Amino acid sequence: MYIVPKLDDFSPPSLDRAAADLLAALDAESSAVTDDAAYKNFRDRWMARKNGILTQVNDLWLKAAPGPQKRDVGQRVNQLKTRVEELVAATEQHLRGGASSEKLEADRIDVTLPGNRHHIGAQHPVLRMMDDVVNVFRAMGYSIEEGPEVETDYYNFEALNFPPNHPARDTQDTLFLAGQEKKPTRDRLLMRTHTSPVQIRSMMKTPPPLRVVCPGKVHRNDALDATHSPVFHQVEGLAVDANITFSDLKGTLDHAMKSLYGSSIKTRFYPSFFPFTEPSADMQVSCPFCGGKGCRKCKFGGWIEILGCGMVDPNVFEFVRDNGYDPAKISGFAFGMGVERLAMLKWGVDDISLFYQGDIRFLEQFA
Ligand code: DAH
Repeated sequence: MYIVPKLDDFSPPSLDRAAADLLAALDAESSAVTDDAAYKNFRDRWMARKNGILTQVNDLWLKAAPGPQKRDVGQRVNQLKTRVEELVAATEQHLRGGASSEKLEADRIDVTLPGNRHHIGAQHPVLRMMDDVVNVFRAMGYSIEEGPEVETDYYNFEALNFPPNHPARDTQDTLFLAGQEKKPTRDRLLMRTHTSPVQIRSMMKTPPPLRVVCPGKVHRNDALDATHSPVFHQVEGLAVDANITFSDLKGTLDHAMKSLYGSSIKTRFYPSFFPFTEPSADMQVSCPFCGGKGCRKCKFGGWIEILGCGMVDPNVFEFVRDNGYDPAKISGFAFGMGVERLAMLKWGVDDISLFYQGDIRFLEQFA
């Protein structure tokens, strides 16, 4: 085992020899380190402040050197110190497996393999269609209102001028919440069957003039088939001001359809009936698939029915007259459209249930 010798000859050859002996011992002891405990002994033996080999070198060689040799000895001792520190660090690295070639080999990766693909989410086509519709009306100065999906009979039917025995009030079409037999009819809760109740809620909140669109989810007691779903989406619209006419209604909806389907789309209005509008109309658009010539999609008629609309019935205004809606002074139009239907027409989807199945092969076409 190496012991630091006392020096009495401080000449360069003597110092060279002493340094060589020390470094040989350092190398040998470093190679013998195979585990953690051995490493700690090794490190302390060489570097411990109290009586470590470097400390002894300092005392026995540097401090003992006579004045004229001090400078030379000092430089040599410093070099030795650096060597010792480097080798102790290298010994530890080797022990911890730092950069051993076996470790590198085991960690080898093939950078030519394809990476993991991260799929970026995309908006669902129904919500995208709904946003598109809302944005067309926002650009015309409409604001957005939302209402609850669990609605009362009052907002869903009564205030919209549905007569007491209208078939829509029957459980055939409407999903009612259970256990409400004790409540008066108007307070009974149901799943809203359309977004039209938001018309009433908006007029109660804001006096005229008013322009709103109301997007949202609606519910019907319908079985799922290629064109019906018990849950679907609508966008409602309402404009009320002095002197609103049926021409405003036609111009507004014609512009909206051209914005959504392209400027070559035509619209036409057919007489219809809704309790809350008078007169009422169904609006049709020229078939976007064949341009109106007739094809399977439009059942060879060239036109496709797309929404209900009309002039707000004065009886509806009576329910909100207190908030400035005097039917003698103001008038308005309203419309309501099914979002899934608009989307099917826009993207040529022939089965509504595709929107709800979550099949990535269908959805990624809209990404
Ligand atoms: N609420 C009607 C439905 O769900 C659609 C509708 C028709 C809304 C005419 C309107 C309207 O605002 O004026 O079938």
